[in-house]
Amino acid sequence: MKIKPLFLSLAMAGMCSQAMASAIDQNSYANLDDVITTHLNLDLDIDFADKQLEGFVEHTLQWKNAKSRKLVLDTRDLDIDKVMYQTANSHWHKASFNLASRDDVKGAKLTITFKSQAEKVRIYYNSRPEASGLQWLTPKQTASKTHPFMYSQSQAIHARSWIPVQDTPAMRVTYSARIQTPKDVRAVMSADNSDALLKDGDYTFTMPQAIPPYLIAIGVGNLEFKAMSHQTGIFAEPSILEASVAEFNDTQSMIDKANTMYGEYAWGRYDLLMLPPSFPFGGMENPRLSFITPTVVAGDKSLVNLIAHELAHSWSGNLVTNATWEDLWLNEGFTSYVENRIMEEVFGRDRAVMEQALDAANLRAQLKTLDAPDTRLNLKLNGRDPDDAFSSVPYTKGQLFLLYLENKYGRDKFDDFVKTYFNEFAFKSLTTAQFVTYIKANLIEKYPGVVSIDKINEWVFEPGLPSDAPNPTSDAFDKVDAAKQAWLSGGTTATQLPTANWTVHEWLYFLNNLPRDLSIKKMTELDGEFNLTQSTNAERAFAWYMLAVSNGYQPIYPALDKHLSSIGRRKLIVPLYKALITNGKKDWAQNVYLKARPGYHSLAQGTIDALFE
Ligand code: BES
Ligand code: ZN
Repeated sequence: MKIKPLFLSLAMAGMCSQAMASAIDQNSYANLDDVITTHLNLDLDIDFADKQLEGFVEHTLQWKNAKSRKLVLDTRDLDIDKVMYQTANSHWHKASFNLASRDDVKGAKLTITFKSQAEKVRIYYNSRPEASGLQWLTPKQTASKTHPFMYSQSQAIHARSWIPVQDTPAMRVTYSARIQTPKDVRAVMSADNSDALLKDGDYTFTMPQAIPPYLIAIGVGNLEFKAMSHQTGIFAEPSILEASVAEFNDTQSMIDKANTMYGEYAWGRYDLLMLPPSFPFGGMENPRLSFITPTVVAGDKSLVNLIAHELAHSWSGNLVTNATWEDLWLNEGFTSYVENRIMEEVFGRDRAVMEQALDAANLRAQLKTLDAPDTRLNLKLNGRDPDDAFSSVPYTKGQLFLLYLENKYGRDKFDDFVKTYFNEFAFKSLTTAQFVTYIKANLIEKYPGVVSIDKINEWVFEPGLPSDAPNPTSDAFDKVDAAKQAWLSGGTTATQLPTANWTVHEWLYFLNNLPRDLSIKKMTELDGEFNLTQSTNAERAFAWYMLAVSNGYQPIYPALDKHLSSIGRRKLIVPLYKALITNGKKDWAQNVYLKARPGYHSLAQGTIDALFE
């Protein structure tokens, strides 16, 4: 599928459109040059017994090519019942359609042919229980154990497994929906959720702002709502609602700070949906309603940068969108940068810098394990599933690139650039090449002699990190280093480690930097003093288990079993499975996995299956 360059906005930016290569979204079959959908109307039944969505989607079409009579949609594992279409002022007609055989990455191309250009087309269909973009949970797999739960995760290319759609971030739709559910559960969507406040099994939603299809989202379960401020609130199962509200009650001030720095929040309300622990991500920036893992409800707000991150996508990602998944860093790198700026405003510079330093260290470690091409910001997917190229490169290398520019130009000029960029490309998609052209005109050439275009090209197109990349360090961590050294060399005991005022960040830094072959005696001493095996902070527990697996400290295993069986967030489990396999614990890991696998999301299953193959 070809994507048209943004002639209009680039012309406004005073640029030459010739430099814009049109991008190819290799992950979509859509024929955007012929026709685009401008609005979707969903009418779906949520069938928990058969684990399927059943109903129709109506596309409102805008034709680009007067000769075309064909609409090509993306689908995966959908059963298509019939297709009807309507031309101006006419009745509904049956359309002929062809569902091609399934490609492992892209799914099945659905080609609909009309006798004359349709204004509206309705596809009657149902999803299958194995839909890659949906997870269906039994009551036992939820927090309250009493009601079933289902939710979608459409990014990157999973919207097509529950909606036949032009599944590319290069286009945008508004949507409306009627969703019918059993009466004892509530449905919410990435839309206006006011109708969801009355629990009656019949819900209507509208999303008047145009969004790329990967941001269409739904969640259904035993959900209650509690407001946190005039603009923010939480949908969650009752048993975790109060704790979530207490954890995330800084959300409004995050929005207020971001508004000041980057321009007014464009989406009206900002609510959170707490998902079951099997959610494979930390969060997902579904507009108006971010989806959130419960593993960040730590009791001390130590992991709320996740909320800053998903909120930041309201500017980078949801407003200004990557045109293809090879440009993911435009979403995630900008968002990681904005996230950290919000954290600095709300929680202060020390914490923001600690988070930068932890992420940069993780990136540097990960760079050593990745193939060089996958360490470029502008990825080359070469037909791969975007999920398979997922790493911290688009996130943290992207963030370091923007930090580098901030350092070079100063905050005044750089903030101005970012704000103008968000404004310029609002409700549009762009490629990396288009971004490079834009930054060249609006930053590099505007303030000559600060950063060269070669340097920009190095950051964006070359593997690894430039030699002059920022290397964030924190005074707090320097103190942790000194205390750690004293303890390692036997000068002090664990009791004397100055942990009383350590935040989770200092703990993570301490644990991540202990020698991987730390003696069992030292491990026992730490565990005895700080009860790390029973840590209730999921990130701190993870860091401790990683260390313990590498040096053979046995007492963690019952707790590790529980961690792996109760959490499905890939970041907190996949590295542990990998470490277990390479440290002689493959059989133990496989047994745990056998038991835990049915509770994991299919994305996590896919990733971990591959480890055991
Ligand atoms: N949009 C991403 C999740 C995602 C990325 C899903 C690519 C599918 C494909 C979300 O905003 C995210 O980045 N989540 C992170 C948050 C973290 C960096 C604070 C996560 O899940 O860990
Ligand atoms: Zn993100």
